Amino acid sequence: MVQTICCIGAGYVGGPSMAVMADRCPGLDITVVDLDQQRIAAWNNLGRGSLPVYEPGLEAVLSRVAGRNLRFSTDVAGAIRKADMVFLSVNTPTKRNGHGAGQAADLTYIEKAARQVADEARGSTIVVERSTLPVRTADVLHRIFANAPGARFEVLSNPEFMAEGTAISDLECPDRVLLGGNCESSLDDLQSIYAQWVSPERIIRTNLWSSELAKLTANAFLAQRISSINSIAAVCEQTGADVDQVRQAIGSDSRLGHHFLKPGPGFGGSCFRKDLLNLIYLADHYGLTPVADYWRSVVEMNDWAQQRLARMIVRQLFGTLRDKTIAILGFAFKADTNDTRESPAIAICTELLREGAHLAIHDPCVSEQAVQQALAERQAGSPQAGAGQGSFQVQHRIEAVFDDADAVVLLTDWAEYGELDWSRLAPRMRRPGWVFDTRRGTDLAAARACGLETWAIGSGEQF
Ligand code: NAD
Ligand code: UDX
Repeated sequence: MVQTICCIGAGYVGGPSMAVMADRCPGLDITVVDLDQQRIAAWNNLGRGSLPVYEPGLEAVLSRVAGRNLRFSTDVAGAIRKADMVFLSVNTPTKRNGHGAGQAADLTYIEKAARQVADEARGSTIVVERSTLPVRTADVLHRIFANAPGARFEVLSNPEFMAEGTAISDLECPDRVLLGGNCESSLDDLQSIYAQWVSPERIIRTNLWSSELAKLTANAFLAQRISSINSIAAVCEQTGADVDQVRQAIGSDSRLGHHFLKPGPGFGGSCFRKDLLNLIYLADHYGLTPVADYWRSVVEMNDWAQQRLARMIVRQLFGTLRDKTIAILGFAFKADTNDTRESPAIAICTELLREGAHLAIHDPCVSEQAVQQALAERQAGSPQAGAGQGSFQVQHRIEAVFDDADAVVLLTDWAEYGELDWSRLAPRMRRPGWVFDTRRGTDLAAARACGLETWAIGSGEQF
């Protein structure tokens, strides 16, 4: 019976998922470890408002389990030595250099973690892939463990399907838990943990490769729906149709359903782009060029969705942004998270900066440092780095971004932007003043009543 768990990787998945597991399984002793000392210190700083991950409901769960049966530590080796089961929740970004750069997954972190498990584990150890991995990564792990001196290993795949912003409810009530593996007794051990809070019909068992591929496929299908609706939003704008009416009509078909049909500035987040690229790389690797091209188009549509918004804003503002101030509402890739990875705001802000704009950026949760880092990284990696002369400032008070702004661009669907008091904010702006709503997330009728010109994604009607 499994009693002691080590989770390697204290990020957006490792932290919340182990907190919920510790909460639902008081008999387990769980240690979450990471090489990043600052991150571990922040996890151990509960109650002082500086957790590394912003997630609604997370603090409440942590307050029940931290120090009881959940610990955060930098002692990776020590935690592996004590564990019956090791969860690998490390990052698997897209490779930046060498063969497969820009598409293949960078397995450096998973390999390093596995080698450390091979060196430190004692006795019989079940290793569980929690990171999203290319299909057949379990083969790589088996080969690393085959040379381990002190233990016997079984590798299982248990990909995580939670989304940021709703992680706690997703983890507490998952649509399904997927367990992949070839060893029935190890699968039984892992299933007996989830069975403490997940009903049996929601636990799916498959072979290793189906489990690894199902995770990539789920993200590819979700991303595909967003690219599909964003393509239709552009058609709506040209034809007089309204994307909200179109999605209401098509989502009512029970075969399609209403989820993941909201138009926006394109999908962001650490997963969709990376996992699509991973699938494309896999298809290319097996010579399945039409399959690779099919999924490539989902990524291309997303890039285009972001570029077209930036270009449209420049066009509406008379073709130049020099000496103009643009208020940016939202920098996180979606509401209810502090995560900026692959946020559409990064690409769109970079384009506006290149046109010479001054950006006043507000986000309720993203730190100034995170905005600076995201924009600096993007500009450094861009072939046109330094071309623009724009500048940006992060404002914590939302009123401040409206001061002398020529335009407001809503990029993240934070609920508070739906409640803006336009009668108070609009007078702070210059005229003519614009509001560009890329999420259908604010009251444009109220903004228009205050004399502002408005644009909403997917709306063919001239406001
Ligand atoms: P993250 O970058 O937030 O966290 C990963 C952590 O692993 C980092 O803190 C890093 O320091 C640590 N780490 C890396 N190598 C290590 C090592 N050898 N030893 C100890 N610590 C090490 O990443 P994340 O968002 O939590 O994602 C983790 C995995 O889960 C990825 O494969 C991702 O695709 C997948 N996933 C993410 C989400 C999500 O919403 N973020 C959802 C489902 C699945
Ligand atoms: C995603 C998957 O949903 C989750 O199952 C997986 O485990 C990790 O990747 P996440 O990236 O955290 O989760 O958020 P998600 O809610 O999927 O949103 C991703 C992006 O799509 C965001 O930028 C969001 O704003 C955008 N989106 C989502 C839309 O533009 N329209 C929609 O209808 C839904």
